[in-house]
Amino acid sequence: MSLAANIPHNLLALAVNQSLDGIVIADALAADMPLIYANAGFEKMTGYSAAEIVGQNCRFLQGKDQNQAAVTVLRDAIRNGENCIVILKNYRKDGTLFWNEFNISPVKNAAGMVTHFIGVQKDVTARVDMLKHLRSSKLELQKVNQQLNVLAMSDGLTGVGNRRYFNEQLQAMFSIAQRTRVPLSILMLDLDYFKRYNDKYGHQAGDDSLIRVGGMIAEAFQRPSDAVCRYGGEEFAVVSVGMSAEELQLHAQQLCDSVRAAEIPHADSPHGVVTISIGGISRVPKSDTTTATLLKLADEALYLAKGMGRNRIGILD
Ligand SMILES: Cc1cc2nc3c(=O)[nH]c(=O)nc-3n(C[C@H](O)[C@H](O)[C@H](O)COP(=O)(O)O)c2cc1C
Repeated sequence: MSLAANIPHNLLALAVNQSLDGIVIADALAADMPLIYANAGFEKMTGYSAAEIVGQNCRFLQGKDQNQAAVTVLRDAIRNGENCIVILKNYRKDGTLFWNEFNISPVKNAAGMVTHFIGVQKDVTARVDMLKHLRSSKLELQKVNQQLNVLAMSDGLTGVGNRRYFNEQLQAMFSIAQRTRVPLSILMLDLDYFKRYNDKYGHQAGDDSLIRVGGMIAEAFQRPSDAVCRYGGEEFAVVSVGMSAEELQLHAQQLCDSVRAAEIPHADSPHGVVTISIGGISRVPKSDTTTATLLKLADEALYLAKGMGRNRIGILD
């Protein structure tokens, strides 16, 4: 028995009454377990006077919110004569909502029978609101972070990936290709006579043609296992895993044809319209192959395609 025998009972009553927490006592033997005591802390927290609520079951604080999950926890604890701690939405006398964190404990008589329950209530509205606020700030932050990640990986002008994105994707796809022995393809694509285009039509028109061609490349290579990026200036690059040399050849040729068919005027090109040259490589990386070797080969293929008159593709397998 932990009750200190030398504490006068009126001191105990005063201390309980003056606690900042709400403290109530319910009669466990009476029908519907009515409250028989509520301290000043409870009156202050809820706006009800003790006289008003004595004789009622404490559920009146739940207002119309009596289906909260934690109520089941309470019911079970009461039925089993156990203690429990819950947080519930409760309503003050003036109708305002507050979050009530409270615990109830059984009070047993000398024979071990539960005769009463004592309940201790705390208004934790500020804490719950802060947690809600933190949670929504966290979600907001995650969203901004995702947007930042996308921005950090994309080319500001054309919206396709940037070089950093390309390097990341190249490494990832290279590992997959090496591990699963499927072909890795790299394409280097370049707008033909782009300097002449800029000189003739101005930088704004130059940017516009990069945007249009970038869009066409992205449309041609849009499988989840393709990555398209602007490699620098008027050069784009594509890395793709699991595409055969024949498929690559076909896609590249179609792309080359559709850029020409878009008929973006280019008076200073022998073709009269904007065209692209494409160099590419497709192979299953061997154990001694590196991404640098493959990039170099794709670059050489582009150089060859350019040397052969541009507006064409050159794929090595
Ligand atoms: C001592 C004691 C204090 C309680 N205090 C509260 C309270 O502050 N707020 C509340 O919503 N429910 C409180 N309850 C719970 C309800 O009185 C009731 O037991 C609960 O809603 C589950 O029973 P029911 O399903 O019959 O409503 C308290 C219960 C006891 C025994």
